[in-house]
Amino acid sequence: MQVLVLHGPNLNLLGTREPEVYGRQTLAQIDAELAQMAADAGAKLQSFQSNHEGALVDRIQAARTDGTDFIVINPAAYTHTSVAIRDALAGVSIPFIEVHLSNIHRREAFRHHSYLSELAVGVICGLGANGYRLALQHALSSRPAASA
Ligand code: DQA
Repeated sequence: MQVLVLHGPNLNLLGTREPEVYGRQTLAQIDAELAQMAADAGAKLQSFQSNHEGALVDRIQAARTDGTDFIVINPAAYTHTSVAIRDALAGVSIPFIEVHLSNIHRREAFRHHSYLSELAVGVICGLGANGYRLALQHALSSRPAASA
C-alpha cells in the first residue's frame, strides 16, 4: 500500500502562516506524523509540497506509474482555480481525499467552490491537521488486497 500526500501553495509556511486559521504545526511535523502512521500500518507514504501548479500536475501524473494506490491532497489555493489539477487527478484515476485545514465554507465566498470535490472519495475540512490523519486512516483502511 502506497499513499501520496500532496500539499499545494503556501502550505510550506504552516506553523507561522495565519496560525489562528491554519494551526501551529509545521508541514514537516504533519508529514512526519503521517509517515509514522503509515509505517505503523506497514504502508509507504510519500509527501510532496509545491507552490507551482505544473509541479503538482507532474507529481500527480508520476503517481500513475510509481505504485501510488491513494492520494491525500490539500490543493490549497489551487482548489478554487485549477482545472489542470482536477484533470490530472481524473487522468490518473487514483482515488483521492481532498483535505483543508480550515473550514472553507465558513470563509470568503471564493473559497466555497472546489474544482476537485466532485471527483474525490471524500472531503475533510475545518479539522486542522487532524483532517490529514483522518484521510490517511481512511486510505489505509481501503488498502488494495494485493499489496498488504
Ligand atoms: C486551504 C484553504 C484554501 O482556501 C487556502 O487557499 C489554503 C489552505 C486549507 O487548508 O484550509 O491555502 O486549502
